[in-house]
Amino acid sequence: MVLVAALVSAAMLLGFSASGNLPSWDSSPNASARTGSFAYVPTSGLPPYAFVPYGNGLALTPPMGWNGYNHFGYAVTADTVRAMARTLVASGMKALGYTNVNLDGGWDLPNRSANGELQPDPKKFPHGIKPVADYVHALGLKFGIYASAGYKNCAATSAGSFGHYQQDASAFAAWGVDYVKLDWCYLPVRKYSFMSHAALSQMLARQFGNAILGSGRRMLLDVNDWIDPSTSAWASNLGNMWRTGLDISDNYQSVLANFIRDMSHYLDAGPDHWNDPDMLEVGNGGMSLNEQRTQFSLWAELAAPLIAGNDLTNMSHDVFAILTNTQVIAVDQDSLGQQGYPVTNRNGHWVLTKALENGDRAVVLFDQTGRPAVIRTTISAIGLSGATRYQLRDVWTGSVTTTKSVISALVPAHGVVMYIVGPSA
Ligand code: GAL
Repeated sequence: MVLVAALVSAAMLLGFSASGNLPSWDSSPNASARTGSFAYVPTSGLPPYAFVPYGNGLALTPPMGWNGYNHFGYAVTADTVRAMARTLVASGMKALGYTNVNLDGGWDLPNRSANGELQPDPKKFPHGIKPVADYVHALGLKFGIYASAGYKNCAATSAGSFGHYQQDASAFAAWGVDYVKLDWCYLPVRKYSFMSHAALSQMLARQFGNAILGSGRRMLLDVNDWIDPSTSAWASNLGNMWRTGLDISDNYQSVLANFIRDMSHYLDAGPDHWNDPDMLEVGNGGMSLNEQRTQFSLWAELAAPLIAGNDLTNMSHDVFAILTNTQVIAVDQDSLGQQGYPVTNRNGHWVLTKALENGDRAVVLFDQTGRPAVIRTTISAIGLSGATRYQLRDVWTGSVTTTKSVISALVPAHGVVMYIVGPSA
């Protein structure tokens, strides 16, 4: 109730109309064919820039990288970006897949130039954006930027893109942008008061996608509609990823809430179109190491984008070990592209299973509660059959055990035990 009330008041604050019962705007031919099927992603002949109906091929596995918002807020500068990009390379994180370096809100001024262009904040980006993107590219990384679909960005510190989609997409293309996070605030709801929120959102996402097409550069589109719980039902034709919940904050309850919201849309995700429970808070100081491992494990099980949100230049060994756990990353990045789903949730004791390309399963036993608990499941419940013995590889401790059927572990409060499960040789 509290959440619903908060959403409604947030929507009112932003000027969303409760009226408008028109049918969904989405006329995409195969929208209904997507659910649960991944076969539509072509392996060749991909239209170079298209979002409809195939996607654009830029996120065949969930995007990975860094974004400064969770740690630095609006204070990210060109120097920050360069330092993070260098660290991604020097630390080895780039080699593990963290290849996107993304700006968030606050990089540009409240007003456009006389020509209607977005203006980088000269205090933060004294030479504009292109040299920063060039620097990132020279390190073999990709460069991402933030824009808002409405009249302003969400913090109201910068101009929004509404009315300028093509101009902005073309500017981004000229700067060498590879990834656009399109935020969802100050939408033109009065102008389109005859449309439902979902229909308006689809129209705006489609228009921005078309603007990317018109720019001639392939750019990943991140539809950051954090307001509408139905985004996952329509966004897979229109963007490479979309938010499934409210902004994350650096505490366990927020991680839990965003995990639950994301998980309930597991059928909507697949190669080139991912549910996004928001960025990582690993390394930001508000959670125990155990809770940080939990976020990383759950995000991998959700096949979520893994966008580090910490100060990479100042990481403890333990934080680095979490972000660079290759087995957990491999679960997230598995080429089958199936999101994990819940087998059971008994009073906050979760069993999750994720099918992997080689036939194994990634299994997470997650204790949502404040007390340690033994969580138990079976080989058949997690979706495997046919072998007499199975190997359980614990991705956090490295221990390997075998079982005929029962999978059981003592799981710490707010913690996980995560196994890769497959037939034993
Ligand atoms: C929010 C968005 C966050 C972040 C923030 C910046 O609307 O969901 O991820 O981008 O704006 O102000």
